[in-house]
Amino acid sequence: MMKEDNGIICENVRLSENRDSVIIIDQTLLPAREVFIELKTLDDFYEAIYMLRVRGAPAIGICAGYGLAVLGSKIDCSDKDRFFMKLRKIKDRLNSSRPTAVNLSKALNRVENAALSMSGQGIDEIIGAMFKESIAIQAEDIEMCRKISEYGLSLVKSGDGILTHCNAGPLATSRYGTGLGALFLGKEQGYDFHVFADETRPLLQGARLTAYELNKSGIDVTVICDNMASIVMNQGKINACFVGCDRVAANGDTANKIGTSGVAILAKHYGIPFYVFCPSSTIDFDCASGKDIVIEERSGEEIGSLFYKEKTVPEGVKCYNPAFDVTDNGLITAIVTEKGICRAPYCESLGALFG
Ligand code: MRU
Repeated sequence: MMKEDNGIICENVRLSENRDSVIIIDQTLLPAREVFIELKTLDDFYEAIYMLRVRGAPAIGICAGYGLAVLGSKIDCSDKDRFFMKLRKIKDRLNSSRPTAVNLSKALNRVENAALSMSGQGIDEIIGAMFKESIAIQAEDIEMCRKISEYGLSLVKSGDGILTHCNAGPLATSRYGTGLGALFLGKEQGYDFHVFADETRPLLQGARLTAYELNKSGIDVTVICDNMASIVMNQGKINACFVGCDRVAANGDTANKIGTSGVAILAKHYGIPFYVFCPSSTIDFDCASGKDIVIEERSGEEIGSLFYKEKTVPEGVKCYNPAFDVTDNGLITAIVTEKGICRAPYCESLGALFG
């Protein structure tokens, strides 16, 4: 059974009690089946992240952070130099599972650095420090989501229509989520929202996950195909667009699920505010602009076969499947962080809060 608080999903990623595994809800099976799986080996963690069993930038970071601590604690070696060499190998493999969400490398670096900072101590102390750091990453995410949700709620009013793309709710993070957090918080405070969830081709995170989460919480949600965003905007049904992000460059250019930039372009056309919800764990000051962000490319099979009984693309025809796109900072009305709401020029506003 999924642990819930007020209909909001909790513990989508959790360290097992004896700390020898991580338990996640398998997001590929939702909404049809709520199945929890246990990740114990390096292959388990790599596969779960690569296959999007655990997904969403913050959740990927949390899972990988725990993964490095769990796998580090299983390194059978008393020589510290060899221990750190093996730890680095595990870290590099986990880090190669998905390239776009910066939360992955940031979390892995944090856990490795926690270990390195204890290199003068014994292996038990080093392992203890890794667990402490990975637990802190999740605790901080819960806190950041809560604050982002409060700032987000200040941008809308009860009765508003909100368009969202992909999934930036509790499944992708911890508790409230980022892009959906204000909606859950608003619901708790008696707000009514009418949410339009883009289905989000090809992996359907909007239809399968966003609709599942919002519906569980009793928030009014309607799924639309991605190519219907323009008509619902034109019909006056949308007051604001709320999306999450996988990597925000220093200038505010934002990588998020493929299709996000199209929504932003439409929003600009119709004069609808477009908000990006971004915990500081997703900001990458090492990327000067969106041009520096690596975009994951996934198998074309996801387009033509994954969710269909029969293939929808003729045999032998190529499919191109970039998993993310970059929304130009000029299309973004504001970036909502845990420390406040940033507006253009983002180099300055993000730098002032986090630089
Ligand atoms: O490929 P996914 O499902 O991991 O992509 C997720 C997204 O694009 C989310 O919008 C993003 O990670 C923000 S999650 C708070």
